Amino acid sequence: MRIDVLTLFPESIEPFFSVSIVGRAVEAGLVSVSCVNFRDFATDKHRSVDDRPFGGGPGMVLMCGPVFDALAHVERQASDTVPTRIMLTPQGEPLTQSLLVELSTHPWLVVLCGHYEGFDERIRQGAGVREISIGDYVVSGGEAAAVVLIDGVVRLLPGALGHECSVVDESFAGGLLEYPQYTRPREFGGMKVPEVLLSGNHAEIAAWRLAQMRERTISRRPDLMMGEDRSSDGGAPN
Ligand code: ADE
Repeated sequence: MRIDVLTLFPESIEPFFSVSIVGRAVEAGLVSVSCVNFRDFATDKHRSVDDRPFGGGPGMVLMCGPVFDALAHVERQASDTVPTRIMLTPQGEPLTQSLLVELSTHPWLVVLCGHYEGFDERIRQGAGVREISIGDYVVSGGEAAAVVLIDGVVRLLPGALGHECSVVDESFAGGLLEYPQYTRPREFGGMKVPEVLLSGNHAEIAAWRLAQMRERTISRRPDLMMGEDRSSDGGAPN
């Protein structure tokens, strides 16, 4: 997979691509991630990339010229793959685990990060972007959102995690929150590991975990229960 991030602040996200799971995936050649700075495509002597909004109002708006030129520059390097253009914005489609799964199958993502008051509307209209939001709140720029999206996608690439099954078991994978985990010691500060986990009975452990997943999801996120995926429990009764 290839990911290009178009941003005004590459230095704020580049370090993220060399550590932990994303860093290891890059090193293993599962993904390449690079940043392009819109400012390198400014055409005036002040290297302007944004301007005041027509009609007045606060903030600055990213201009069409540098954004379209940066896109053309990045995509000129294309061989035969078609890039999926993503614009990060609070107005976009909500980012969910199933959207991450879908995006992880695309060979090439080009991610546009906005800042200040956002993008000139004609970038939305003309660039054929898929608008995505990381949640119903506002962060200072698309860079923080890009880190969330890229991490969520890269860890789904086959081989990115040590254990393939960690993706299967974790929260949201089957529409439920994850069961509680314990490790040594068996007792800490008077709190004990549930007996069933020490029993060695794998069927009982699996049943206990499933019950915990359901209980947690019902109490914390009842909205998720509406779409519960029953494939992992063979359709066991509730
Ligand atoms: N930029 C600012 N807030 C954002 C959000 N919630 N999602 C995506 N991009 C953003």
